Amino acid sequence: MIPVICIDGPSGVGKGTLSRHLAQKLGWHLLDSGAIYRALGLAALEQGILPDPNPDVAALEELARALPLQFREEGGQTRVFLQDRDISVALRSPLAGQLASQVAALSPVRNALLERQRHFRQAPGLVADGRDMGTVVFPDAPLKVFLTASVEERAQRRLKQLQEQGDSASLRAVEAEIAERDRRDRERSVAPLLPAADARILDSSGQSVAETFRVLEGWVHDTFGELIF
Ligand code: C5P
Repeated sequence: MIPVICIDGPSGVGKGTLSRHLAQKLGWHLLDSGAIYRALGLAALEQGILPDPNPDVAALEELARALPLQFREEGGQTRVFLQDRDISVALRSPLAGQLASQVAALSPVRNALLERQRHFRQAPGLVADGRDMGTVVFPDAPLKVFLTASVEERAQRRLKQLQEQGDSASLRAVEAEIAERDRRDRERSVAPLLPAADARILDSSGQSVAETFRVLEGWVHDTFGELIF
């Protein structure tokens, strides 16, 4: 069985950075499942299915199955293409995040994306980043990590990211956006944001990326043995 490490948790907690480091260090594949939901949200916007308080679920489901999405590794970075269009920058926008959390609340859409996500499980192994990697997509994963940090700290980190991209958001707006997305992700009836029963909780509040990564590496050693690195 090809090994999987699941890294789940709320928005802006640093899952992306940790998952990428870990996948690079292990030489494993990486699944950024949030990028799939974001791309679907953007595609639905372009097709006029969103915004809509009562979206056409069948149309979204069909779009989810047929989405011409590709992840390409370029110079140590993953670029995301929709058909032949590079959507990597648009994908990180707050709008894409909001659209993603809307489509992600729909059970037929989540089901339509299951196989696409499971396809990433290729030798020698997979690091899977998301919300339901350990609970739904890879329930047999030998190591499941649930990463947490306070809303304030996550908002600070997200603000820094946005500023680096030349975006001028306010801390309050970012905090409100994260809190709203958390609420929606936790309260949805399908695949709510919750740690798997066998997940290990890693609170990164007040810790540097390097410190958090050291804890994670320790758990990887515990689970797979020293030889893996
Ligand atoms: O992780 P990221 O911020 O890119 O995810 C965007 C949104 O996609 C989340 O707020 C969540 O609603 C949804 N999502 C999900 N399940 C996943 C990954 C993301 O519901 N596995």
